[in-house]
Amino acid sequence: MSLALKGVILAGGTASRLMPLTKVTNKHLLPVGCKPMIYYSIEKMQSAGVEEILIVTGIHHMGDVVNLLGSGKDFGCKFTYKVQDQAGGIAQALGLAENFAGDSPVVVILGDNIFEDSLCEYRDKYLGQNGGAHIILKPVHDPQRFGVAEISGEKVIGIEEKPSNPKTNLAVTGIYFYDSRVFEVIKTLKPSGRGELEITDVNNAYIAAGTMGFSTMTGWWSDAGTFSSLSRVQQLVEEAPPK
Ligand code: G1P
Repeated sequence: MSLALKGVILAGGTASRLMPLTKVTNKHLLPVGCKPMIYYSIEKMQSAGVEEILIVTGIHHMGDVVNLLGSGKDFGCKFTYKVQDQAGGIAQALGLAENFAGDSPVVVILGDNIFEDSLCEYRDKYLGQNGGAHIILKPVHDPQRFGVAEISGEKVIGIEEKPSNPKTNLAVTGIYFYDSRVFEVIKTLKPSGRGELEITDVNNAYIAAGTMGFSTMTGWWSDAGTFSSLSRVQQLVEEAPPK
């Protein structure tokens, strides 16, 4: 029998771009529509049948995150928590999930990514792909702000992190699927120019190994890490609530 998919929600970072909203709280606890931002990632995972979820956050607001979410029983899930001591990047935060994941595949959602589509279709595509990794792309008007994917036929051939001259308009969204080999990949990474272990380097390692699949997101998607994207998300959530 294959192992159940586990979930990892990355909810750390300093959120300096949202100061002073984030001076006394974590970005992922800010309101989006009628609930805290982090609820959206939890609900996506829960409705895709992911029951065991690890939440990674920084030291400053871990207490508030646990006060809000508890054991997970209100959501029909089981939560585990891990602290990321310093903001060392998304890949470093994911590395903390190694013991939690064991040999299981994981779906990782960046807690400030809000999207309309159900996770089920993408979960099924990943689980049908025989291991490796899977990313979800979305055409955007401002690709310079994201990881940007280059495609050739049915394959992703490379990702550039926040390029000043993007080769395409295909943003890599913060929803990723990995097999347990991801933790070996993370151990080989070196910090980038901004001093972080980059998730883009993880994804490029899977591309180099020929084991990266991708989907294109059909519904709306946005991050919520800046004032303009946060206000855009507020509008999108109201107009077309996430499925
Ligand atoms: C991160 C990733 C980037 C991805 C984005 C999605 O960027 O590094 O590749 O496209 O999330 O939200 P960051 O939020 O750290 O700027």
